[in-house]
Amino acid sequence: MNEQTAVTEATAVPATKKPALPDAQTVTQVKHWTDRLFSFRVTRPASLRFRSGEFVMIGLMGDVNEKTGKQKPLLRAYSIASPSWDEEMEFYSIKVQDGPLTSKLQHIKVGDEIIMRPKPVGTLVHDALVPGKRIWFFATGTGFAPFASLLREPETYEKFDEVIITHTCREAGELTYGAELIESLKHDELLNEVIGEGFWKKIKYYPTTTREESPKMGRITDLMRSGEAFKDLGVEPLNPDTDRAMICGNMAFNLELKDLFENTYNLEEGANSKPAHYVVEKAFLD
Ligand SMILES: Cc1cc2nc3c(=O)[nH]c(=O)nc-3n(C[C@H](O)[C@H](O)[C@H](O)COP(=O)(O)OP(=O)(O)OC[C@H]3O[C@@H](n4cnc5c(N)ncnc54)[C@H](O)[C@@H]3O)c2cc1C
Ligand SMILES: NC(=O)c1ccc[n+]([C@@H]2O[C@H](COP(=O)([O-])OP(=O)(O)OC[C@H]3O[C@@H](n4cnc5c(N)ncnc54)[C@H](OP(=O)(O)O)[C@@H]3O)[C@@H](O)[C@H]2O)c1
Repeated sequence: MNEQTAVTEATAVPATKKPALPDAQTVTQVKHWTDRLFSFRVTRPASLRFRSGEFVMIGLMGDVNEKTGKQKPLLRAYSIASPSWDEEMEFYSIKVQDGPLTSKLQHIKVGDEIIMRPKPVGTLVHDALVPGKRIWFFATGTGFAPFASLLREPETYEKFDEVIITHTCREAGELTYGAELIESLKHDELLNEVIGEGFWKKIKYYPTTTREESPKMGRITDLMRSGEAFKDLGVEPLNPDTDRAMICGNMAFNLELKDLFENTYNLEEGANSKPAHYVVEKAFLD
C-alpha cells in the first residue's frame, strides 16, 4: 500500500439518510493505557480472514460537510493487534489531540460502532520471510501493534527457536501495553495448550525508554551499534544464516535499522512476492 491509499476518505453518502455503515463492527472493550495511548476490541466479521501482522482501514463517520451536506467515512490504516485465530479484533491506538480520526476515536465506548474495511494487507507476515532460527521484532511506540498479533500467533513459535522483541518508547508508561501482553502469555492456558506448554520461554523482551528513567535507557539502534543490546540479551549480532526480522516504527527508525541491516548485518529485504531476511512497515505516515 502506498502513502496515498494508506489514509483514505471513502465514497460520500448523503447526510439526510442515517449513515449506512456496511462495514460496522461493535466495540466490545476499551482500555486506556496513558493519556496518549489506548487499545480496544471489536467484533470480527465471520467471513474475515487475515494473516497475523497485517493491517486494515478502520474509522468513524466524519462530520457533515456544511457545503455539500454529505458525510464521509474517515478511515486510517491500523495494524491488527490480535492474532489471526482470535474471534474478535484488537487495535492499539495513539490519541492525537487534533488528529481527524483519533480526536474522536479515543472517546469510543463499549457498544459503539466503528467502520472496518475487510481488506487486510501488509508486509509484516511470516510469508515474506525465508526460514531461520531466530526472529526479531523491532518496534517504537504503537509499532508494537503488529507484534502483539505475531507474539500470539502459533506460526511464530513453529518456525523459530527464539523470538526477540525490542520496544523503544519515550516514556516508561508507553511500554505497559506490550509488557502486560507479554507477561499474560505465561498464564494463557489456551495458547500454552495449542502452541505447547512454556512456549513463551522462547521470548526475549527488550524494552527501552529514551526520555524517562527506566531499567534500560537508549534507542535500540544505538544499543545495537555499541553491542550493548546483544550483550544484555546474550545473543550474537544478526546474521543472514540464522536471523530474520520485522521492523515497525517511525520513518527515521525504520530507515536507520534498514541501513544497519543492509550494511552491517548483510540482511536482504523481503516482500510477500519475494521472501527474504527482513521486512519493514511504517507505524504511521511521516
Ligand atoms: C500501515 C500503517 C499502520 C498503522 N497502524 C497503526 C496502529 O496500529 N495504531 C495507531 O495508533 N496508528 C497506526 N497508524 C497510524 C494511523 O493510520 C493514523 O495516522 C492515526 O490513527 C492518527 O490518525 P488521525 O486522523 O487522528 O491523525 P493523522 O492526521 O493521521 O496524524 C496526525 C499526526 O499524528 C502523528 N501520528 C499519527 N499516528 C501516530 C502513531 N501511531 N504514533 C505516533 N504518532 C502518530 C503523526 O505525526 C501525524 O502526522 C498506522 C499507519 C500506517 C501507515
Ligand atoms: N511520546 C510523547 O510523550 C509525546 C507527547 C506529546 C506529543 N508527542 C508527539 O507525537 C509524535 C510521535 O511521538 P512518539 O513518542 O509516539 O513517537 P516517536 O517520536 O516516533 O518516538 C518513539 C521512540 O522512537 C525513538 N526513535 C525516534 N527516532 C529513532 C531512530 N531514528 N532510531 C531509533 N529510535 C528512534 C524515540 O527516541 P527519542 O526520544 O530519542 O527521539 C522514542 O523513544 C511526535 O510528533 C511527538 O512530538 C509525543
